[in-house]
Amino acid sequence: MSQDLQAEIRSLARERNAVILAHNYERPEVQDVADFVGDSLGLSREAARTSAEIIVFCGVHFMAETAAILSPEKIVLLPDLAAGCSLASTIDGEQLRAWKDEHPGAVVVSYVNTTAEVKAESDYCCTSGNAVEVVNSIPADREILFLPDLFLGAHVRRVTGRENMHVWLGECHVHAGISPENIALQRTMHPEAEFLVHPECGCSTSVLEAMSAGDVDADGVHILSTEGMIRRPAISPAPEFIVATEVGILHRLRKENPEKRFFAANDRASCAYMKVTTLPKVLESLETLTHHITVPADVAARAYRAIERMISIGGPTPAPLLPGEDDPGE
Ligand code: 13P
Ligand code: SF4
Repeated sequence: MSQDLQAEIRSLARERNAVILAHNYERPEVQDVADFVGDSLGLSREAARTSAEIIVFCGVHFMAETAAILSPEKIVLLPDLAAGCSLASTIDGEQLRAWKDEHPGAVVVSYVNTTAEVKAESDYCCTSGNAVEVVNSIPADREILFLPDLFLGAHVRRVTGRENMHVWLGECHVHAGISPENIALQRTMHPEAEFLVHPECGCSTSVLEAMSAGDVDADGVHILSTEGMIRRPAISPAPEFIVATEVGILHRLRKENPEKRFFAANDRASCAYMKVTTLPKVLESLETLTHHITVPADVAARAYRAIERMISIGGPTPAPLLPGEDDPGE
């Protein structure tokens, strides 16, 4: 059944000149039908460079919005509008404007898990794959407002040593639910395993504290974006890994590393927003060209600047400035 649907989707995608992008947290069968599976940064880059006329975005709403901003001439489809994000919902444009008013002159760095309206109020976007590089690219004397994830913010502050960085107190309910107790239990069960920890996790701070206290061997701990986690097993001698992020990632990890073993830090860490996208909905989306995600032109133009920097920093080309724009990093 799943294979028939996948064949039908592939054939319709070819006919319509559509590319299917899927996030690492999507259902296994949705990942398997996609042309490209990756993290938020990889998917944004892919959306920006594809020559397809239609992008079917198997991810969540803010990701489809980002693709629509990067490729306004393309039709970006989200198979189910219920694909939201609890983290992105923790701050809106009005709240960010009020925060900026409290810190005039501060540089605003927004995690990609934000609405287009919030991105439009930001100087830089980042993902977990390049947040440290983005913050390091801003001169040390500039105050920074970092949003919306408190755990990622704490991680970036720790790595960069940045004292003048204020962090919004938002969190993702899925990652916040991965606790230090989950990690402790898995460590006892798999003492030889490496830890792969997403910086959005509630446990990331405590794992690093345990590392500094010498309770956890620093060699075995890696704070990584989802794509960083996918790359790690191939270059690691470890045969086992404890994976602290949304469980959808286990599909690719196991598929690409059949000789290694992977354990979820918390096997209930499943994002319902990512799982609303099913194969029948992907097919329907291609058949009916729904749901077409668009962003008002004025919001898109302002958000574009921040997103463009995100896809450039930590990538092959330097972050460009738009004509007539002052660099907030100068
Ligand atoms: P990355 O894929 O960028 O690591 O992000 C994880 C996430 O939670 C996306 O919603
Ligand atoms: Fe949003 Fe969390 Fe789901 Fe990622 S896992 S899409 S941050 S709710």
